[in-house]
Amino acid sequence: MAAILLNLFCNPRARQPSPEAPDIAFAAPEAQERVRRFHHTLPTYQPTPLVALDQLARALGVGRIWIKDESKRFGLNAFKGLGASYAVCFTLADHLDMPPPLNFADFSQPRVRKALARLTLVTASDGNHGAAVAWMAAQLGCHSKVLLPHGTIAARLDAIRAFGGETIVIDGNYDDAVRRAARQADDQGAFLIQDTAWEGYEAIPERIMQGYLTLLDEALAQMGDTLPTHLFVPCGVGALAASLQAYLVKRFADQRPLLVVIEAAAADCYYRSMRAGGWEVIPVKGALETRMAGLACGEPTRPGWEILRRYADAFASARDDLAEAGMRRLAFPHPPDPPIEAGECGAVSTGCLCHMMQSETAQDGRKQLGLGPESRILLISTEGATDPDAYRRTVHRFKDDASAGR
Ligand SMILES: Cc1ncc(COP(=O)(O)O)c(C=O)c1O
Repeated sequence: MAAILLNLFCNPRARQPSPEAPDIAFAAPEAQERVRRFHHTLPTYQPTPLVALDQLARALGVGRIWIKDESKRFGLNAFKGLGASYAVCFTLADHLDMPPPLNFADFSQPRVRKALARLTLVTASDGNHGAAVAWMAAQLGCHSKVLLPHGTIAARLDAIRAFGGETIVIDGNYDDAVRRAARQADDQGAFLIQDTAWEGYEAIPERIMQGYLTLLDEALAQMGDTLPTHLFVPCGVGALAASLQAYLVKRFADQRPLLVVIEAAAADCYYRSMRAGGWEVIPVKGALETRMAGLACGEPTRPGWEILRRYADAFASARDDLAEAGMRRLAFPHPPDPPIEAGECGAVSTGCLCHMMQSETAQDGRKQLGLGPESRILLISTEGATDPDAYRRTVHRFKDDASAGR
């Protein structure tokens, strides 16, 4: 029997009136504006490309498809710099009593530089967030230390070390690394810059989610007057998906596009928890083995869980095959669509959409989500080829199949 590539759960609560109202003030229009202004002060800030894939839309029988290509973000090959930059600068400005508004240029004052040189940032990461924290530390002249799960590939360690970050690979999974990082930061009087929140550790994860608001802010501005009907967003701890979801609720209320949360099947904690009623978190334990390294998280961030269980329209649990299929689709498009380099986490949104539109087994899901000729779909590609060897193996080895299988 063929393996099931995608499981989908549509959230009956998403559009129902409910007394449950998770706190999404962090995504209010004033906050969106504050974060946008801060990002504009970063010397390397530029909106990432929003690319229309008209031929793919035609081939799949949907109205329009756009993909937001985060491989171009700050030269980091992933979207994470948006959250890390805002959270780090906000936290350190607060620590150093720097007056608002937050402006990156203020960190070059000699008094500030001297103080920064004594500080250390600590985080746990599957790779991309760690690289973003190390990048920010390097810009500011402070130290950084990143704890990573067992099995992290050399390319991800190198990306962190390139910014002078210290790397420690632990004997455990991502969630173990988070716990270890929290203990180390505590013991060493360092700043923990984590995207996962838990009771008593909420402020910095919230700043990280605020940083991600800029991604959607840019994409909607780039789309002009057109509003997407659907967003497909990859999900690890759920900080990104929850940030975009909160943005949509704040800005569009009931008229908001549908948001589909996509997890790796090997770490599909949201999907399992929602399937089981959505009342409590069912963590996924063990090695969390998936090619989508950034999605290998077995426990959600608390606010992510509260926001997504209440508002997200659907939860998809996707096998690695869909990420790989997505990578090939994007690398070898139907001309004149341009090629896009997307790593596993980045490409899974495309792989899922293609599967949903083309597989007989996905008919029900397609119908439930109302995907068809009227749909305008925004895919978030969160990374480039962050594992270059795997990218070569996945994309180039299958070049002919990919062309033939269009
Ligand atoms: C490339 C990439 N995409 C998506 C995600 C998921 O983001 P989150 O953990 O906020 O759900 C990550 C997280 O590390 C990532 O690195």
